[in-house]
Amino acid sequence: MNSIILQQPGKIVFGENSVLQIADDNLIQSSKRILFLVASPLLNAVQPVWDKISSTDKQVVVIEYNFPGEPTFVQFDTLLNKSDYFRPDCIVGVGGGSVLDCAKLLAALTENTQRLEEVVGIGILNGRVKKLICVPTTSGTGSEMSPNAILLNEANETKSGIISPFLVPDVCYIDPVLTASLPASLTAETGMDALSHCIEAYTNKFAHPAVDTYALKGIELIAANLQKACENGQNMEARSALSLGSMYGGLCLGPVNTSAVHALSYGLGGKFHVSHGLANAILMPKVLHFNMSADPKRHAEVARALGVKIEGTDEEIALAGIEKIIKISKACGIPQRLTEIGITGEVLSELADIAMNVTRLLKNNPREVTKEDAIEIYKKLM
Ligand SMILES: [Fe+2]
Repeated sequence: MNSIILQQPGKIVFGENSVLQIADDNLIQSSKRILFLVASPLLNAVQPVWDKISSTDKQVVVIEYNFPGEPTFVQFDTLLNKSDYFRPDCIVGVGGGSVLDCAKLLAALTENTQRLEEVVGIGILNGRVKKLICVPTTSGTGSEMSPNAILLNEANETKSGIISPFLVPDVCYIDPVLTASLPASLTAETGMDALSHCIEAYTNKFAHPAVDTYALKGIELIAANLQKACENGQNMEARSALSLGSMYGGLCLGPVNTSAVHALSYGLGGKFHVSHGLANAILMPKVLHFNMSADPKRHAEVARALGVKIEGTDEEIALAGIEKIIKISKACGIPQRLTEIGITGEVLSELADIAMNVTRLLKNNPREVTKEDAIEIYKKLM
């Protein structure tokens, strides 16, 4: 068996209304200056937390996060200026993946001599002295569990990954109640992203038994509950299952990570500002179709976890799994073709070039992907 490193948050609190316990967390209790970075729609839900903290001798600053789309380097710098000015000893991020990625980087770069541009890549960050609490409010990105942060460098229109063990939060609060107000479209897109984390980990060239368990359970929970949560956002049983599935997906990101679905979606996000989850959702069936011949058995096991019950060869079961993903995706209102989101044939070569540069993810794919393969996959989605 290969060796593997599992770097996870030191404490994970999971449960309905768990967000209200943050004020009493040891990390907060041992801090004097606390910075909250909170997505606009969640301000009311989290206000009781900082009200309680502010009523003690602690100083609290709340920054409202309302940037649309993926955060850019310039946007991050505006947050960093505010954080440098306040000099917090603890950062609390409350929001979707963009907010959490920014909170993680704020914790690492506030009062740090390294600048954002200097830490892009794997393992370049020199450390993190600020305490970090992450509170996801979507069931998707898994950022609260991972050592990754992805920002958009507007100078060259590329998504830039900052990967470092120092970006794994100290503590996470996963409160499914915070996801209840998420619109159906965002529920669907972020849920498909979480599903892709689990599937890309399980079918990964570097898949590992220590992570397989998370991946399969995540696939099962998300496949059984995504449509339910899209149809009725207040279905807390479905919301809780999705939050758990997303957590499992997040736990796969550090040790094994994703592969070609995420690599091929890079250009769609960076160049055409297609949301991360939507890009992955559209690409996933065709990429899995391309990959399955490399490991039919694992793709069949994915299908089983998705809920496929048929008997047959591994290939037949794997194909039924891909059909199941398409069925869930359609039922949740996700477009199935790139043309439906405004992508035209002329840009496919450029998209493939961008994907070919995401070697840190492509190396994980069970089957080698050439530029021509990537173009063929995109073409099948036109
Ligand atoms: Fe993702």
